[in-house]
Amino acid sequence: MLRVAVLISGRGSNLQALIDACRQPDFPAGIVRVIANRPTAGGLARAADAGIATTVIDHRDHAGRDAFDAALNKDLRAHGAELVCLAGFMRILTPGFVAAWRDRLINIHPSLLPSFKGLDAQRGALDAGVKIAGCTVHFVRAEMDSGPIIAQAAVPVLADDDEQSLAARILEQEHVLYPQALKLIARGRVRVEGDRAIVDGDAAGPAMRRR
Ligand code: GAR
Repeated sequence: MLRVAVLISGRGSNLQALIDACRQPDFPAGIVRVIANRPTAGGLARAADAGIATTVIDHRDHAGRDAFDAALNKDLRAHGAELVCLAGFMRILTPGFVAAWRDRLINIHPSLLPSFKGLDAQRGALDAGVKIAGCTVHFVRAEMDSGPIIAQAAVPVLADDDEQSLAARILEQEHVLYPQALKLIARGRVRVEGDRAIVDGDAAGPAMRRR
């Protein structure tokens, strides 16, 4: 079983999707720790309900990004994390931290990267008038919302969508995609070659892998 830590800042609906997946028999990963940078993160209660130990590392208690990331790294090592999943974790990690966890640190983002990086990705998609939106799971690199793409899911953008309706449609897919990507990694089916993640079996077409 791959030992996974999940980092959150907020409500933790993606964390919940990962918790639910890890509960399934034969799922090849387990969550050993949930870490939040905000004591008020709603996801902390989800972890507690699932019997998963949590750590709050409040960024306001640390002098700067290096000190915060050092505390994060220490906690991850202390609990034997082998893979780190960012799930609505709204802090930029230092290049040193990202390098230390290279190819063992993944993120979910509510756009079809490399389009619409950063905050308000759904707003960006609406403003650009794209007809297809979606979400991406990727390995994390130092530059925000960049890195080898592991999996993506697409949804239509409808004429009467607002930010909420589009975000909800994307989020539903996030909850499917993130556990799928985690399972692929835990089964050893993902490798990084240069700037790309190669997924065994994707030759048949990743769109066919949904659900
Ligand atoms: C999700 O939509 C996630 O993709 C996004 O924040 C939300 C967190 O929701 N992450 C980012 O925008 C990262 N750049 P959740 O706390 O309910 O999982």
